[in-house]
Amino acid sequence: MVEETRSTSREAVVETQVDEIAPDIYRLSTYISDEDFMFNQFLIDAEEPLLFQTGLRSLFPLVSAAVSRVVPVERMRWITFGHVEADECGSMNLWLAAAPNAQVAHGALGCVVSVNDLADRPPRPLQDAEVMDLGGRRVRRIETPHVPHGWDAGLFFEETTGTLLCGDLFTAIGASPALTEQEIIGPALAAEDVFRATCLTPSTGPTIRALADLQPTTLALMHGPAFAGDCVQALRDLAAAYDDRLAAEGARLHGPVSPVDVGHS
Ligand SMILES: [Fe+2]
Ligand SMILES: [Fe+2]
Repeated sequence: MVEETRSTSREAVVETQVDEIAPDIYRLSTYISDEDFMFNQFLIDAEEPLLFQTGLRSLFPLVSAAVSRVVPVERMRWITFGHVEADECGSMNLWLAAAPNAQVAHGALGCVVSVNDLADRPPRPLQDAEVMDLGGRRVRRIETPHVPHGWDAGLFFEETTGTLLCGDLFTAIGASPALTEQEIIGPALAAEDVFRATCLTPSTGPTIRALADLQPTTLALMHGPAFAGDCVQALRDLAAAYDDRLAAEGARLHGPVSPVDVGHS
């Protein structure tokens, strides 16, 4: 299924494309050419429909129109995201207003820190490894604090299709197809060199490596293609790349630091 919703509210024509990347899991993808960057959300079409990542508040007209091609907006039940950031949850309250039975579900820590205050209706706090039975699909919340960033960070694993909704992991610059088997490590590390968006800590590699143990069959990227190649290897390779970067950074920081390096002149 491929459909597009268009908007001319920005200077460039912006389109939201809808593709089914796994059974009943739809990728809603908006490419912003001015930024050479794409924003994806994922809709799980189940008895209790779930949206993972709401998109920016400014994109709500496009994203909600895209959702309505699969599920009536007012039927949305669960509004979820990885961590609190504008592109992850900026339109959360617009969704709550548009869907009377919708509720935000987020990690318990993130609810205490942010969402209890930000959301117009009380959220459902989720524990690590808690499963939400959507009726036909089941999503498991996995806490990944500070991976890739944010102390409330977490992901969802859809157990019946083996789809890991992996948020900002593997973020890439540029446009990409809905589904690919081409390698995603190179583009992710190139984007990391530009953005430095990932917290480089001793737990970064192990946290990503633990996701490989889920043995996902599809990786649903927020900023990039959905990946249907060897997902276990991709996650292990990404973990190893961050291990290497942490080691290099440690070596750099434990060496002599020149005044130029710390910003003094
Ligand atoms: Fe993020
Ligand atoms: Fe993001």
